[in-house]
Amino acid sequence: MPERRPRLEGKVAIVTGAGSSGPGIGNGKAISVLLAREGAKVLLVDAVGERAEETGATILEEGGEASVFQANVTVDAQCNGLVSAAVERYGRLDILVNNVGISKRGTILEVTEEEWDQVMAVNVKSMMLTSRHAIPQMERTGGGSIINIASTAGLRAHHSTPYTASKAAVVGLTFSMAADHGRANIRVNCIAPGLVYTPMVAPRMDDGLREKRRDASPLGTEGTGWDIGYAAVYLASDEARWVTGVVLPVDAGLTVTTPITNEPAGQQQWTR
Ligand SMILES: NC(=O)c1ccc[n+]([C@@H]2O[C@H](COP(=O)([O-])OP(=O)(O)OC[C@H]3O[C@@H](n4cnc5c(N)ncnc54)[C@H](O)[C@@H]3O)[C@@H](O)[C@H]2O)c1
Repeated sequence: MPERRPRLEGKVAIVTGAGSSGPGIGNGKAISVLLAREGAKVLLVDAVGERAEETGATILEEGGEASVFQANVTVDAQCNGLVSAAVERYGRLDILVNNVGISKRGTILEVTEEEWDQVMAVNVKSMMLTSRHAIPQMERTGGGSIINIASTAGLRAHHSTPYTASKAAVVGLTFSMAADHGRANIRVNCIAPGLVYTPMVAPRMDDGLREKRRDASPLGTEGTGWDIGYAAVYLASDEARWVTGVVLPVDAGLTVTTPITNEPAGQQQWTR
């Protein structure tokens, strides 16, 4: 068998929210490590520098190439700065993973206007800001891949209306960007993670809830940041050269089900 070349050899990537908000492996951290394992040089962006440093240390220990850029992706000048840093350090830009996202539970009667605006700014506006600086750089070198991290919460109700509204907007943004920039050979896709267990959700989880989340899907197993990371590697790679404008749920099948009882998925009756 011929020796396999790393799937992202020669490519330069930016990952936003490349740290983890707590101990363990979040989506941004796993995505960054896996992109680097496949040969990409990765600019690790996070509002909290030490979090990105931790991801960077893992990548360097494994022999990969990465560096840190501290930035708040809701600020246009900082988004301009992070794209410029990637190009200055590594010479080009091929992959942008818009991973930053915060969650906010509650109905529209419960959420304050400030909270609503914050969720929209962090989860949606940030993707527009980073992308509009990244796209001209990608155009310069013949194209690229933008991956927006949405959520299954953007595809169905989730007891967190501001979050659902923001993630549904990410899906719409992805469709529209894919249509707008396809002729520049820029592919734009989104991943919709399901009920993965990451440091983002761990603080509000007890064993019982964790088990319920696992049981809710047809596969009945727990997802991790690595599952999201492997999907990102595929969408970033040339193997996905004909794939744009898709929403890829990585959710153990959760979104294909229509539960009509509160039983675990394996024991439920299904509507047709
Ligand atoms: N964990 C889940 O169950 C789950 C499910 C569906 C979708 N998601 C999505 O996955 C993405 C993130 O996952 P994660 O596991 O990497 O989260 P995380 O909270 O562990 O890490 C996100 C990182 O983003 C950084 N950050 C937050 N706001 C920022 C800003 N304004 N500018 C720059 N950096 C900022 C934080 O410092 C943190 O290090 C989010 O978009 C989230 O909505 C998660």
